[in-house]
Amino acid sequence: MTRIGRLGSAAWLLAALLPFLIPPALSAEGGDKVLRVCADPNNLPLSNRKQEGYENKIAEVLAQDLGWKVEYSWFPQRMGFIRNTLRARDATDERYKCDLVMGVPVGFELAATTKPYYRSTYALAYVKGRGLDSIKAPEDLLKLPPEKLSKLKFGVFSQTPPVDWLLGNSLFDQAVSYQRQSGDPEQYPGEIVEKDLTAGKIDVAFAWGPIAGYFAKMSPGGNIVVVPFKPDPTIKFDYSIAMGVRYGEKDWKDTVEQAVDRNRGKIQGILADYGVPLIDAQDKIVQVTTGTALAVPSKPPPYQITDGKIDMGTYAGWRIFQNNCAKCHGAGAEGTQLAPNLLPIVKDMSETRFVGTVLRRYRQITPAGELYASGGAREALLDEVLSRKQGEIPMPAWDGDPNVKPHILDLYGYLRARADGALDDRRPEVLR
Ligand code: HEC
Repeated sequence: MTRIGRLGSAAWLLAALLPFLIPPALSAEGGDKVLRVCADPNNLPLSNRKQEGYENKIAEVLAQDLGWKVEYSWFPQRMGFIRNTLRARDATDERYKCDLVMGVPVGFELAATTKPYYRSTYALAYVKGRGLDSIKAPEDLLKLPPEKLSKLKFGVFSQTPPVDWLLGNSLFDQAVSYQRQSGDPEQYPGEIVEKDLTAGKIDVAFAWGPIAGYFAKMSPGGNIVVVPFKPDPTIKFDYSIAMGVRYGEKDWKDTVEQAVDRNRGKIQGILADYGVPLIDAQDKIVQVTTGTALAVPSKPPPYQITDGKIDMGTYAGWRIFQNNCAKCHGAGAEGTQLAPNLLPIVKDMSETRFVGTVLRRYRQITPAGELYASGGAREALLDEVLSRKQGEIPMPAWDGDPNVKPHILDLYGYLRARADGALDDRRPEVLR
């Protein structure tokens, strides 16, 4: 039946009187308060059938804002996606399969795009503790000693920007190629990080930042480092991502854009929760912090290292640590039977929280003054605390300690340098 046929005169009259009788294919988006979204059923962190992806969460936010519910039409995101989703009609009721695609790059040609709602970039990822910890920016990879660099295997998706980067730096011979659109619906791009990088099949994985960020965040030991590429004039690594609607549906596009604008904070929070690296309007990489509602800009590290030598303050931090903390936390702060490994703790701890924790949090446990005697008396007291075998050993409070308190920020600097992998557990050299 054609559309004209459906609009016979009686039907036309009825339709005018009773809007809910309008055949679905002709009703406007949301006429029935359903947000119809097309998405990939197996493409975390973007989307999956269980609606665990960030696109699923964002669709939920928009639907809630509009007072609608979400319904999905699933299709793997590869060649023909838009033709089979946004522009395809359901065989039974002629309604479009969906009215919204949650993520398409700005400039995408097969659909009209809304204003972008995030901007991300490609990234490299490696496993901590396998000799690559010095890599803080992609260029650091090139500074590795040649004999080390030449042994590395790089996992990279074919026809993505990092391929150009590897070619440009004469490293493509060491690439292990991955297909962006594998024929197997059970496979998903995150496997490059989740499986092959973790298993050591490759030493460095190059992937779209949201994929690298999410699978790093989900990795059991939390020991995968993600290093995003900055916007680059020669190779385009960063893309602004918008939502896709059909061409010509201006009102619907406006509705979506306004809903996005009303929920930018929530959307940012969701992206941060999923570890998506974000690029701000000044082309800066925005550090994504765990679980906070808004991404915070990255701060310079609280230590300086030049040619392997550290600044005086950080050195003082090392010294104070050896004298006061190493007994319980170990010389490299990696923990002993008495006290926990501080590296993962400090990595996620702000300066302010560190100061509060170390100076004050445990005050109630150790009576003020008990540990603050000086010299040998103090050592003896500490030994006594340590020798109390039964019960828990307390973490002392340090705000009355004349050695520790003035150097609390130096301690933080030293521990952060350790936590970031910038210093090993040996005595550091100081820069003079
Ligand atoms: C007498 C042993 C002992 C000494 C000495 C000691 N700590 Fe601790 N510390 C502990 C214990 C035990 C814990 C774990 C307490 C807990 O889980 O609540 C801890 C926990 C911590 C934490 C983590 C707190 C958190 O919120 O998880 C930090 C940070 C810390 N210590 C820093 C220091 C610093 C810095 C020094 C030296 C100035 C130091 N500690 C000296 C025993 C010690």
